[in-house]
Amino acid sequence: MSEAVTFIHLTDLHVGNPAVPDDHLFSDTTTTLSRILAEVKTLVPQPKFIVASGDLTNRGDEGSYENLKSLIAASGLEMPVLFALGNHDRRDGFYPAMLGRTDNVDAPYDHAQVIDGIHVIVLDSSVPSKIGGSFEPGQLEWLKTELEAHADLPKLLVMHHAPALDANPDMEWESLSIADTEALRQAVEGKNVIGILSGHIHFDRVSNWFGIPVVVGIGQHAATDVTWLHEGLRMLSGASYAIGTVRPSGLSITFAPQPAERRELTSFTWVGMAEMLKKYEDGNAVAAE
Ligand SMILES: [Fe+2]
Repeated sequence: MSEAVTFIHLTDLHVGNPAVPDDHLFSDTTTTLSRILAEVKTLVPQPKFIVASGDLTNRGDEGSYENLKSLIAASGLEMPVLFALGNHDRRDGFYPAMLGRTDNVDAPYDHAQVIDGIHVIVLDSSVPSKIGGSFEPGQLEWLKTELEAHADLPKLLVMHHAPALDANPDMEWESLSIADTEALRQAVEGKNVIGILSGHIHFDRVSNWFGIPVVVGIGQHAATDVTWLHEGLRMLSGASYAIGTVRPSGLSITFAPQPAERRELTSFTWVGMAEMLKKYEDGNAVAAE
């Protein structure tokens, strides 16, 4: 690569299904995404691709993905859009609506392509009925094979859950599991990975993870109040997306915040959060029986 290549990082789009009321959709994500895509259309130069790092929809039903698809089509943007799946997504909603695929709809959605000299690898870190992330058997092997390909090209990894930054099991719900984080570290070591693009926690955060930049965005649904994290999770109105640039010198990320009054949308303390998580996972366990 001799010239700069720009791309867009969307995350946590949480697009809804206009036909279905949803108490857990805290903002008008359809309007937010339309506005952002219109903004992207004005960028000069035009980005070469878009990555969307999971929580594409809020409920994971086919109607929500149909809405997402029509918003992208209506934008008139022509660059490829690479989708990752998050904990709000459902594979059995995503595959039929987005890819027209009706077989093997429980499989993780891992895929990769080379665009303008950048090897973009998208990993599915979602786990059905769980909030935190991990890999299924076979995914790391797929990744290792992919990392061997195009060895001379810079690689961007896209996955909903960022690697765990420290080994605190109580916080595994907000990242990739500790065990898979370690396995990922070993897999990517020395493989020319210039960045990992993630979401899930709904705030802009850049980390240096064993020398690799890990970029997390607020996304397009709601913004975590980072000043209240000692107390609990408070969601404010707010959204952003990011413009990435890959140069021979490496990756840079420019955050493009959207106007917001930072009104509280919802909040719960960590004690309440622990109860909610237990109820959520117990509920899913019962539902799965
Ligand atoms: Fe999300």
